[in-house]
Amino acid sequence: MFKVPTLVSLFLLVAPKAVFSSPCVAFDADFNLLAFGLDGKDWSAGQQDSWTSGSATDITTSGRPPFDGDNTTCYLAQFFNAIYFMNADKANPSDVHIYDAGAKAWSTQKVTTGNFDPSSFNTILDHDTNVFYALSHNELYFLNMGELKTANSTALEWQDVEKSPYPDSYDPVMALAQNHIHFLDVPGLPAGTADIFVIHFSFFQPQSQTYTAADGSTFPATHGQTASFFQAEGVQQEFAFIPDDGSMTYVINVENNSTHTLAGPTTKDPNAQYAASITALVQLDSTGAVSFIPYKQGDDATNAQAAWAKVAAIASAAPAGSTSSATGTSSGSKTSGNATGSGSGVAAGTRQTGAANPTSTDGSTNGAMTNGASLGALAGALLALVAALQ
Ligand SMILES: *[C@@H]1O[C@H](CO)[C@@H](O)[C@H](O)[C@H]1NC(C)=O
Ligand SMILES: *[C@@H]1O[C@H](CO)[C@@H](O)[C@H](O)[C@H]1NC(C)=O
Ligand SMILES: *[C@@H]1O[C@H](CO)[C@@H](O)[C@H](O)[C@H]1NC(C)=O
Ligand SMILES: *[C@@H]1O[C@H](CO)[C@@H](O)[C@H](O)[C@H]1NC(C)=O
Ligand SMILES: *[C@@H]1O[C@H](CO)[C@@H](O)[C@H](O)[C@H]1NC(C)=O
Repeated sequence: MFKVPTLVSLFLLVAPKAVFSSPCVAFDADFNLLAFGLDGKDWSAGQQDSWTSGSATDITTSGRPPFDGDNTTCYLAQFFNAIYFMNADKANPSDVHIYDAGAKAWSTQKVTTGNFDPSSFNTILDHDTNVFYALSHNELYFLNMGELKTANSTALEWQDVEKSPYPDSYDPVMALAQNHIHFLDVPGLPAGTADIFVIHFSFFQPQSQTYTAADGSTFPATHGQTASFFQAEGVQQEFAFIPDDGSMTYVINVENNSTHTLAGPTTKDPNAQYAASITALVQLDSTGAVSFIPYKQGDDATNAQAAWAKVAAIASAAPAGSTSSATGTSSGSKTSGNATGSGSGVAAGTRQTGAANPTSTDGSTNGAMTNGASLGALAGALLALVAALQ
């Protein structure tokens, strides 16, 4: 009888070597660009006119989370000038950390999860209701943040809404505009279309919506990242969609059902995260480098010519790839995914997974499982091994 290697030893084969901090970029309500957990600190690069020179201001202060989570994400609650963080503390993955950007103060909101899985979900923060909607294992949940800019001593609760009408294989791509959640890349949807959940009626709209591109540059039916552009007043009307291959940036306008295009980011990185203000789209790549492209709503010609540039102020204060910022582990785990012959790891790599990693790693490794690619690779390795042993 063969001695089948344990799950742990397989895990060690595919685990990235270094633990890395998981930074996040967000805007405050004055559209100062803030980078959190970058090089072990938090930074303000100020407003857009100060990004391309000088140095970001260190805004690190007490009460902040450790930014050691597997895939930290952050969201501006525009009405409250508060930024909410998910997965910023590996030891407490269900906590929501709150940064009150006005008071420059942190607090930690306890959250009970029920069946919600904080290690695997995708979410948007609804602008007007200040409620998170998340798809986790194809079940829709919400978390009502009320008016919080400081944590409430009463725990909040992820509430189960209903199962989504989408196939269980769906790796969610969610975008917010007009208090509607737009689901892109739903299996079976043609390019240039999205399915919609109407938040105010808690209703999965049965018809898909098409977003026409006047110049034929329809967004592809593929996995990617999104960021909603804010408006000077009121709810978002447009969101950017960046496919995982980074070939193009699509802007979908839900007022006139249109799509137009901007240059794809210079750094093609399926594990990058994005944030948008009114006048810029920002990319934080998995080496910790921050870039942006300027944006002018309604000026398609200018947008089509716009170019991505580094946020030099952040690069100067917290150089990409320096010790405690995000390192190349994301691409490292993708490579190991390929090495095992697991093709499925790539798409899964951008999903929030990781806290479900085996806890039984021995003391010789501190390899954090950083994303779904690792899990995909692990599953692939396991399947390949089982197949080989038969
Ligand atoms: C804390 O939460 C409770 C329950 O939701 C609510 O009644 C109370 O008003 C909240 N307190 C603050 C200060 O927001
Ligand atoms: C956008 O599409 C929806 C649904 O097809 C339609 O009701 C709405 O009138 C469209 N908006 C415009 C401006 O065409
Ligand atoms: C829809 O509105 C946006 C924002 O004003 C604009 O950029 C785009 O050109 C419009 N598209 C069409 C087809 O009218
Ligand atoms: C890994 O797989 C992806 C998708 O199949 C492919 O695009 C990429 O080139 C591969 N990378 C390596 C290093 O083989
Ligand atoms: C982290 O999760 C968000 C969605 O919640 C996703 O957009 C992003 O790609 C994920 N990043 C990584 C590195 O997995």
